[in-house]
Amino acid sequence: MKTIEVCLTPELIHQHDLKGKVIVVADIFRATSCIVTGLAAGVKSIRPVGEIEEVKALARQGYIMAGERGGKKVDGFDMGNSPFAYQNTAIKAKKVAISTTNGSAAILKSVEASQVLIGAFLNLESVMEYLIQLTQSVVIHCAGWRGTPNLEDTLFAGALMDEVMEEFTPLGDSASIAHQLYISTHENLSGTALGSSHAKRLINYGMEEDLAFCMETNKYSVVPKLVGEELVI
Ligand code: MLT
Repeated sequence: MKTIEVCLTPELIHQHDLKGKVIVVADIFRATSCIVTGLAAGVKSIRPVGEIEEVKALARQGYIMAGERGGKKVDGFDMGNSPFAYQNTAIKAKKVAISTTNGSAAILKSVEASQVLIGAFLNLESVMEYLIQLTQSVVIHCAGWRGTPNLEDTLFAGALMDEVMEEFTPLGDSASIAHQLYISTHENLSGTALGSSHAKRLINYGMEEDLAFCMETNKYSVVPKLVGEELVI
């Protein structure tokens, strides 16, 4: 039977053998929520890169510059990491280059997998439908916060596991931790996620609306995938 694993932080991704598997990267607050929103809204592609300087170099090739550090927009960039910015019609059909504190790094650490998908509560059901028709095993890769696990990405991993449990055998205690967390908190999913340290940080910056948006479930029916170096639908 196909297996499903959860990696709670990119610092532990080396513990997972990614070869031949499909990986779902999740950074609920807010990178993967932004990527799902942007591609659903008609952005042509989104290229995750590690460094701010790489985004600037891609801007010289016509990319829109998106960047966040510590929850705030990078000075001089076109966009930060608010999902609302990704709905801007001015970036429709354009290419975006993005570098964020945790999310873009988690995507770049996933490239050994046979497919890299982007997950968020915004596209939960579509990712679930995609996974159940696969023949490969799956790893859910939580971006966490600066190398540590976080509540919101772990909750997403648990929610996705709950949807696909009948099709996959869970492997490892991280999968059980994520699923048990979801089972015990799913009646107040948003309230639980809003108690996370990064949610509190973003609330301090006045970004409550971003958080509420990121916790909307099944708003979009797209499954972004990494093709070469670009995320597309
Ligand atoms: C990240 O990649 O660390 C983030 O998505 C942080 C944020 O902008 O909220």
